[in-house]
Amino acid sequence: MIKLTERLQKIYDQVRPGESVCDVGTDHGYVPLALLESGRSPKAIMSDISAGSLAKCKVNAEAMLPSLAPFDLRQGSGIEILKSGEVDTVIMAGMGGMLISEILEKDYHHSHSFKRYILQPRKHVGRLRYWLLDNDFTVVHEDLAREGKFIWPILTVESFGRALFVNADPDDVEFEYPLTLLEYRNELTEEYLRNALYLERLKLESKSAGSLTTFEELRTQKHRVARLEYMVERL
Ligand SMILES: C[S@@+](CC[C@H](N)C(=O)[O-])C[C@H]1O[C@@H](n2cnc3c(N)ncnc32)[C@H](O)[C@@H]1O
Repeated sequence: MIKLTERLQKIYDQVRPGESVCDVGTDHGYVPLALLESGRSPKAIMSDISAGSLAKCKVNAEAMLPSLAPFDLRQGSGIEILKSGEVDTVIMAGMGGMLISEILEKDYHHSHSFKRYILQPRKHVGRLRYWLLDNDFTVVHEDLAREGKFIWPILTVESFGRALFVNADPDDVEFEYPLTLLEYRNELTEEYLRNALYLERLKLESKSAGSLTTFEELRTQKHRVARLEYMVERL
C-alpha cells in the first residue's frame, strides 16, 4: 500500500469516496496514486506544468500500480488541462496561495465548474482565503497537518455560486486566522496558533520600539496580536 505523509493523508481524506479527481502540480503523484490504488477514486488525472515532474510521476505510477497503466498524465498550467466539469474534485497542494488564486481567476465559469477543491497553500493563506470569499467560493472544511518543521493548512472549498462583497483588506488578520480554525481544531491547532501569537508579539515589540512606525501600523499590529490572543483563549 502506498504510504502517505500526514499532510498528503489529510488531503486524501478530504476526497469523497467515488469522486473523480485531478491533482494539479502533482509532482510525485502520491495522492492520486493512493486514491487509485484504494479505489476511493474511479478516475485520477495527474498534471503538472513541469515535464520533469510529470516524468517522475509516470515512473512512480508504473512502479507502484503497474496493473493500472496507462495513466492519465497531462502537462500544462493549472486547470487549463481539464474540460469544464471533467472531474469532481481538483487538488492543488504545495503551491503558493497567490499562484492558486491566479489559476482559479483565469476563467470564472471554468473554475466554478468543479464541485470541490482541496487546497494546501505553502504561503499567503490569508490572501487566498480573502480571494476565495471575494470570488464566490466558501471554505467548507479546515485542517492542519505537520510536515517537516512546519504546520500546513488544508482548505476544502466549494463554489458558493453567488457574489459576496468583501469590504476588507486581503492582508487582514481575519483571513489568516479565521474562526473556522477553531471550529475544525485538531491536535495541531494549539501549536499553530501559539506559534503565530509568539511571532506577532515579537513584531509588535519591534514596531513599538521603531521610531518610523506609523500610528496605523501599530494599531494594525495590536489588532493582529489581540485577534490571536482571543483565539488562543478559546482553544
Ligand atoms: C512543491 S511541488 C508539490 C507537489 C505535491 N502537490 C505535494 O503537495 O507534495 C509543486 C509542484 O507544482 C508544480 N507547478 C507549479 N506551477 C504550476 C502550474 N501553474 N500548474 C501546474 N503545476 C504547477 C511544480 O512543477 C511542482 O511539481
